[in-house]
Formats: sequence, C-alpha cells, structure tokens
Amino acid sequence: MRYAESFANMPRKKNPVILGIESSCDETAAAVVRGRELCSSIILSSAAEQAKYGGVVPEIASRAHTDAIDEAVCEAIAQAGIGAGELDAVAVTYGAGLAGALLVGLSFAKSFAYSLGIPLIAVDHIRGHMAAAYLADPSLEPPFITLLASGGHTAIIHTQTETTFSVLGSTRDDAAGEAFDKAARVLGLPYPGGPNIEKLAKQGAPTIRFPQMFRGNGYDFSYSGLKTAVINYCHNAEQRGEPYSRADVAASFQCAACDVLAERAVEAACAAGCRTIAAGGGVIANGYLRERLQTLGAAAGCKVVLPERKFCTDNAAMIAAEGLVQYRVGNFSELSVNACAHIPLGRKGKQ
Ligand code: KG4
Ligand code: ZN
Repeated sequence: MRYAESFANMPRKKNPVILGIESSCDETAAAVVRGRELCSSIILSSAAEQAKYGGVVPEIASRAHTDAIDEAVCEAIAQAGIGAGELDAVAVTYGAGLAGALLVGLSFAKSFAYSLGIPLIAVDHIRGHMAAAYLADPSLEPPFITLLASGGHTAIIHTQTETTFSVLGSTRDDAAGEAFDKAARVLGLPYPGGPNIEKLAKQGAPTIRFPQMFRGNGYDFSYSGLKTAVINYCHNAEQRGEPYSRADVAASFQCAACDVLAERAVEAACAAGCRTIAAGGGVIANGYLRERLQTLGAAAGCKVVLPERKFCTDNAAMIAAEGLVQYRVGNFSELSVNACAHIPLGRKGKQ
C-alpha cells in the first residue's frame, strides 16, 4: 500500500495539529497550527547574506536551509508547547520555488512524517499565501475575492470554496513584487526591493505622474509600462544632469503600483457580489497598499481580511493553514512527491 493510501480510512479530526514547513526561497520557516489557531511560527532568513549578492543565490539558499531546518522545526514544536507525537500531519511547500531549496524542506518533511507515521501534505506555495487569510480571521468562509500579490504572481481570484477557485485576472508580464524589485534596483536600493521602496517612499511625495496602469479586459494587469516609465524618468534626469528626488520616485511608483491592485480587487468583489476581500503575498505587507485596500473596501461596504505583515511574506504558518484545507478533504501526498519549480496559477491540487 502506498503511503497516502494508508491514511485513506483514518478518522480525521476537525482541528488537527499540523506542522508547516516552508523552504521555497530564502526563508527557512516552520509553524504549528491547531485548526485555524496559530500555535507557533519560526522564520529564519538568509536574506542578509543574499543581500550581498543583490538577490537570491540558489546554492546559498539551499545550504542555509540545510543549516537552519532542524532548528526551525524543533523551535516551532517547542514554542507550540507540544511534543512531536501530538502532530496529526506535516504540510510542506513542494513548489513553486528554487528546486534545491524546496528539496531541503520537502525531504525533511517526508522523513519527519514517515518517522511519526502521520500524513504528508504537499502544498502549493501560492495556495499557502491565499490560505494565510484563514489564520488572520478564523471565521473567514468562502466565497470571497482574493488579491494575490507576490514576487511571482499578481492575480485576482474568486475563491468559491476552500478548494475551488477561479482566476479572474492576472499579470500579463511582471508580477507586482517583481516590479517593486526592479524599481528598487533603478533607485539603487538593496535587495529586497519592496520594503526598501516603502521605506524611501515615506520620505517623499507621489508628485510624479507615471502613466496609468494598463487596464485590459477582465482583471488583468501589466506592470511593464510602469517599470519602463520609472527607468526612463531616472535615466533621462541623470543624462540631463538634472537633480531628482529618489524618494518622490519611490512614492509615485508605490502609488501607481498599489492603487490599481486595491481598485481592481474592490471592483471584482462588487461585480461578484462578494462582501469580503482577502489578500496574500509579499506585496500585501506594503503599508500604503494595506491602507488603500481598507479604505476602498470600507467605502464599498466590504470586509477586508489582511494577514499580519509577517504572514504576507514567506512563512510556514500559511503552509500549515493550507495543509489544514487539504487535510480536511483527505488530500494526502506520497513520499515520492517531488519539488516543482513552476506551478501554473489555478492548477487543481495534484500531489
Ligand atoms: O510572497 P513573497 O514573500 O515571495 C514570493 O512568493 O514571491 O513576495 C516577495 C515579494 C518581493 O518582490 C518583495 O519585494 C515584495 O514581495 N515585498 C514588498 C514588501 N515586502 C515584500 N513589496 C512592497 N512593499 C513591501 N513592504
Ligand atoms: Zn511567497
């Protein structure tokens, strides 16, 4: 009998204790949830080391995960105040991300689940970002609109049930986080770009009118025009020897990049007749975007559910939260499950 099959007839608890593990990029994270209650969350990051190279170096990330994974998992279990024997399942990111980095968390999770004789749940990282909202508001129930904005994805999603979604629109080119990172590079800001743009923007004002974001059919986005406008603005000023305010560029870019996300999420919620908007992904940590979402959402009579900032960027609590969704439908994984560098948005849960 294969591993997942051996749990097919296992009675499933309503509020299982799930260990989440995340290692898709430069954060080694582990967390424990009991149902939708967060018991612990540990995030160990190699970002400071990666910053020396201006971005994530895959080999450094994999080695850093290997160094940190044991500590992250043991600390998460200890801080939850439980013993490993009380875990009901292990949820782990199997993609998307850096293959070598994913394999560290995935291999660890397989051995851990097998040694404890409990189910393994392979989680799509992006579904994890979407599930973070369930921890932010344990009473949250679909249907709702999800605004997803991370380093790799930007999308507006109609979440119909915990396991069924339809993508209403997504980016045609760069993801929102990618645009933040590229704009940061033009402004000479270090990796990671998003938080550094936000910091610099606080010292400036959104006085520069960058071109309106592309508004196509449905809820698609495009960030390439905005990115090019920022590059051209800075380069033209430099070539002419004219001084310009980097802080104003950061503030103007931030407004242009975030306004469209908040506006379109609220439009989608109104059109779908959903009175709730949830959000997830690293860009949702942005204070200006959070404020716009709350303001526009409230004006439209929508409740806006935003995970705490530390649960917008990569973490394992969100992986455990999506693990709970999959546990409840008995979607367990085989020990042969492999790392997956790319997972198309909206793919039905495989494993
Ligand atoms: O979700 P995430 O941590 O990783 C992915 O799954 O991609 O997102 C990372 C992205 C990066 O592009 C980063 O610059 C952006 O999220 N980000 C931010 C902020 N914090 C992280 N963007 C804008 N403002 C922030 N405060
Ligand atoms: Zn992420």
